[in-house]
Amino acid sequence: MRKINIFETTLRDGEQSAGVNLNFTEKLEIAYQLERLGVDIIEAGFPAASKGDFNSVQEIARKIKNSSVTGLARAVKGDIDAAWDSLRGGAEPRLHTFIATSPIHREYKLKMSKQQVIERSVEMVKYGAARFPIVQWSAEDASRTELDYLAEIVEAVIQAGAKVINIPDTVGYAAPIEYGNIFRYLREHVPSIDKVSLSAHCHDDLGMATANSLAAIEGGATQVEGTINGIGERAGNVALEEVAMALYIRKDFYQAETGLVLNEIKRTSDLVSRLTGMQVPANKAIIGANAYAHESGIHQDGVLKEKTTYEIISPELVGVSSNSLVLGKHSGRHAFKERLQELNFTVTDEEMNSLFVQFKELADNKKTMTDEDIVALVLEEKATD
Ligand code: KIV
Ligand code: ZN
Repeated sequence: MRKINIFETTLRDGEQSAGVNLNFTEKLEIAYQLERLGVDIIEAGFPAASKGDFNSVQEIARKIKNSSVTGLARAVKGDIDAAWDSLRGGAEPRLHTFIATSPIHREYKLKMSKQQVIERSVEMVKYGAARFPIVQWSAEDASRTELDYLAEIVEAVIQAGAKVINIPDTVGYAAPIEYGNIFRYLREHVPSIDKVSLSAHCHDDLGMATANSLAAIEGGATQVEGTINGIGERAGNVALEEVAMALYIRKDFYQAETGLVLNEIKRTSDLVSRLTGMQVPANKAIIGANAYAHESGIHQDGVLKEKTTYEIISPELVGVSSNSLVLGKHSGRHAFKERLQELNFTVTDEEMNSLFVQFKELADNKKTMTDEDIVALVLEEKATD
């Protein structure tokens, strides 16, 4: 099995979600939980962005011992100095410096030539490597960058001392096969590529962040960056719980694994949702409220006979206590009878026939049937016997 490092950026890219602003204590609380979850690297913030960010990155770097802590810096000395000042007390300080490489960003945002971007990157990676034991360099908007130029700049920054190379799909534009091919291309065309860890960083603008991250792993990525619940700039970053569970459930296919403590996933998701105020949709993969709920009669009957008929993930695996059979208009006799037993009711066959008809009539007019609805039906039935 190949080990895939998890670079967790809920506290940096995740906090860039519109409307999210975590305070010092909330950030620390999330960092401790990420450490419990077993992430390899925590990106704790952007130290040069504000005094508050600087302070929380510094505190997290001092307190977290089992994950490496990093902070973001543009390719300018002032940002790298701020990152060093905040991170240097940590167990394994790392710098994450970035510059955009795509023609659109070079022309309109940076107003720099290809050569100037290479020179700045090399200079700043050397500046960082003189301080930090590990420097990660990111090519912002890499997926819209000319491949031959991307390979050239990646080789140059490796020579300058970068130990991790990140290839972001910054605007969530790449298609999975295309994104995977960028990693294959770099593996084939960058002479020193085997000296570094190659990282994927996907945004979800077209809903392809998970597929893209997995495609990158197939293409040779050894690190995946993302957030819990997929929060982040615009449509968000890749949801790490989805990547981790896809690798776990389909290890037969991907032959790769993360070091995450999977049964801490739900607790981490709940914490991030509560502190950011960003609710998790009920149908969200892995951690949504409906992810382990079965509503239709055919599915409920199948799950009651053998869980694996409709359940590819045991809820306990991610820290969800159990699946649920939600009673509604699609439910069948099997699930209804099971719920009556759970509610400690013994009913005759005749009562069961009558109750099931009433249950279906009521369920037709309600979104879900609560236990109170069922208790009321049974008590009424018993009273009129
Ligand atoms: O999406 C992106 O390109 C980023 C970089 C700063 C790594 O978040
Ligand atoms: Zn990003």
